[in-house]
Amino acid sequence: MEKLAQDHRTTSTSKTSNITGSKAIENKNPSPEVHPPPKRRQLALKTMKDSYTEVVMPFTKDKSLLEEYINVNGTVRHGKIMEDLDALAAAISYKHCGYELADSSDLTIVTASVDRIDFLKPIAANDLRLSGHVTYVGYSSMEVQMKMEEIFPDHPEKKATILVALFTMVARDATTGKAAQVNPLSLQDDNEKKLFQMGEDHKARKRTESERALTKRPPTEEERFLIHDLYLEYSKYENSQLNCSKPDDVQWMGDTKMSSVQIMQPQDRNVHHKIFGGYLIRLAYELAFCNASVFIRNRPIFLALDEIAFRKPVSVGTTLALDSQIAYSGGGEHHSFQVMVKADILDIKNNTRETCNTFWFTFSDPRKDHLTPKVLPRTYAESVLYLEGKRRRIEGAKLAQLNRKNLGM
Ligand SMILES: CC(C)(COP(=O)(O)OP(=O)(O)OC[C@H]1O[C@@H](n2cnc3c(N)ncnc32)[C@H](O)[C@@H]1OP(=O)(O)O)[C@@H](O)C(=O)NCCC(=O)NCCS
Repeated sequence: MEKLAQDHRTTSTSKTSNITGSKAIENKNPSPEVHPPPKRRQLALKTMKDSYTEVVMPFTKDKSLLEEYINVNGTVRHGKIMEDLDALAAAISYKHCGYELADSSDLTIVTASVDRIDFLKPIAANDLRLSGHVTYVGYSSMEVQMKMEEIFPDHPEKKATILVALFTMVARDATTGKAAQVNPLSLQDDNEKKLFQMGEDHKARKRTESERALTKRPPTEEERFLIHDLYLEYSKYENSQLNCSKPDDVQWMGDTKMSSVQIMQPQDRNVHHKIFGGYLIRLAYELAFCNASVFIRNRPIFLALDEIAFRKPVSVGTTLALDSQIAYSGGGEHHSFQVMVKADILDIKNNTRETCNTFWFTFSDPRKDHLTPKVLPRTYAESVLYLEGKRRRIEGAKLAQLNRKNLGM
């Protein structure tokens, strides 16, 4: 297991990452763009077990490893773990395609989306095992399911699942850049058939969600009523004649923003010389965490990461602007809320920006006797963001429940 981590460790990165399946390797010959003619790849029928990969992080014994992951609270950094999950998903996908190492492959495998990561309990600094395998394949896409467990070497029966994660990886021909067919899956038993069916359902659900997205269609009738209710509420607080001031537990959505700007450095590139997806997730998560902390004025609990689509690769040297906002918080008896982070590539010369990712995180206020603020939009654009956050909150909760049930948890 540790061998896997070593094999995937890169020469130029990974002081900080334990699994670096798709992270950068030293580019010994960076200049010429001369490609050999594409080779005809032979496909082979693979089982789910063929791609099974696990990595143990022996934090109780390896103090220098723990030093790389520990946070100020004495628990393990979520951002680092999500970075590792992305690397593990890449390692699993390359293995399914018949390659132990990314740099010996004639395929370019990229993270197309992180469909869901659910954190079920805090990550204590115990020994941890990350594991997973391919559960579904399309033509060029592979769904990878992973989990992280707390393990106790002296008591193998005493283990607890800490998180479950679902990624979609896509294979491109390294020479032509076109979609490349991946090895088909041979399903061995009813459980594997169920996992495969879940993968197909996830793909269909994504298509439906994308068709009813608020960027394509107007809000539903129920949502339009909600926008009007929100409008009436904010008008009430803004109208000085009504003498009704905004309560302390209501925050204007426009006042919940937080931003950062980063330069994308070569140390964080993957084998394809683009910025490693897991690194982008960590940056976005850390900004969202800071924003969530300021919003509730306390340390929040991280519950989940909702679907992120990696629409565009990010090149080394890019100036990346990250803008975070509390998009939905119902307040009242509800303690969880949605934080959106938008990542934009800045074109310095032309003073323009292009969005490459939108991240959605769910946090919760751990103080059950404390009122979590409600966010209130004041513009139509903010109201649409609020609806998007609310949809994700509802769908995310359903999906998390369904995934856990299907995984027998
Ligand atoms: C992922 C990417 C290659 C998809 O490009 P595209 O033009 O939409 O690809 P295609 O239309 O050829 O679709 C290829 C496959 O990807 C799947 N796909 C595309 N976008 C997806 C998404 N957001 N979520 C899940 N699957 C997706 C398609 O369903 C299709 O699957 P199939 O071949 O099994 O039927 C492209 O968006 C990209 O390069 N994104 C950046 C990736 C990146 O930088 N990741 C982080 C660093 S690794």
